[in-house]
Amino acid sequence: MRPPVVVVGDAATDVVAVLSGEPAPGSDRPASIRVRGGGAGANVAVHLGRLGVPVTFAGCIGADAAGSALLGELTAAGVDLAVRVIPAAATGTIVSLVEPGGQRSMLADRGANLDLRPEDVPGTASGEHLHLSGYTLLDPRPRRAGLAALAAATAAGATTSLDPASTGPLTGYGVDRWLTDTAGVTLLLPNADEARLLTGCADVTDAARALAGRHPAVAVTLGADGALWCAGDLLLHRPARPAEVVDTTGAGDAFTAGLLAAWLTDPRPAPADLLDAGLALAAEAVARPGAR
Ligand SMILES: Nc1ncnc2c1ncn2[C@@H]1O[C@H](COP(=O)(O)OP(=O)(O)OP(=O)(O)O)[C@@H](O)[C@H]1O
Ligand SMILES: [Mg+2]
Repeated sequence: MRPPVVVVGDAATDVVAVLSGEPAPGSDRPASIRVRGGGAGANVAVHLGRLGVPVTFAGCIGADAAGSALLGELTAAGVDLAVRVIPAAATGTIVSLVEPGGQRSMLADRGANLDLRPEDVPGTASGEHLHLSGYTLLDPRPRRAGLAALAAATAAGATTSLDPASTGPLTGYGVDRWLTDTAGVTLLLPNADEARLLTGCADVTDAARALAGRHPAVAVTLGADGALWCAGDLLLHRPARPAEVVDTTGAGDAFTAGLLAAWLTDPRPAPADLLDAGLALAAEAVARPGAR
């Protein structure tokens, strides 16, 4: 049995262009271009839905075909929708240019995602869970909605989880301010760079321990090196599952969903099993193109 989960965050279309050579400014270049569902919040919600977790996605889309397609994908995964359509905005789109050698350049238009308001997020009750994708906090416009969702969930007795999402905008937010604003989060899910930035620790295990001094539980992803679990005095490392890596887009979101689905199971599995559940879903995600 798992409690209901509300996931708050971005829904977006990922446009991935794999170039056949260096970009050719002023000219053109053949490329393999694929369009897929993305957005960190929607990625986590779709994975949770497919795993059979009762989940509601809260977010915003534009009144366009891209938004309808994303809603169709969420619904097909078994996700309930608390989505507001913003007629004046476009559904979020992320263009990813992949050059020969794998170098990636991302162009992000978060569009309607920036219109999220506190009243867009359904309430959570005691025993339920709220997962917030950290991008919602990293822009001043939807920030109030993200912080209000965390505060309301905590006040209601729900557990909460948060992925810090991205080091650049996090620096812009101010690390100390971010740490203060998110101090009540139950489970923090940074990657290694985010864990280092949030703590000032060069060593990622030191960073995990420092964050576990602030939150009941911390899971730090280490890319190809797997992940760390830290709670109280316990620090545990598990290696990544071997995978033929095709596309790491959304690997962190898959890890989050796999770990969350296990963490929310009653009785709660042992820490090694929690990490392995996240790593298993991440291994599946990196072995296929697209985020989910
Ligand atoms: N190159 C890789 N080889 C094998 N597994 C990987 C690789 N990259 C990522 N993974 C898997 O995905 C998990 C999450 O990856 P990572 O630490 O890169 O998260 P992230 O930086 O949050 O990713 P993103 O935000 O881009 O989705 C890792 O713990 C690992 O299981
Ligand atoms: Mg991440």
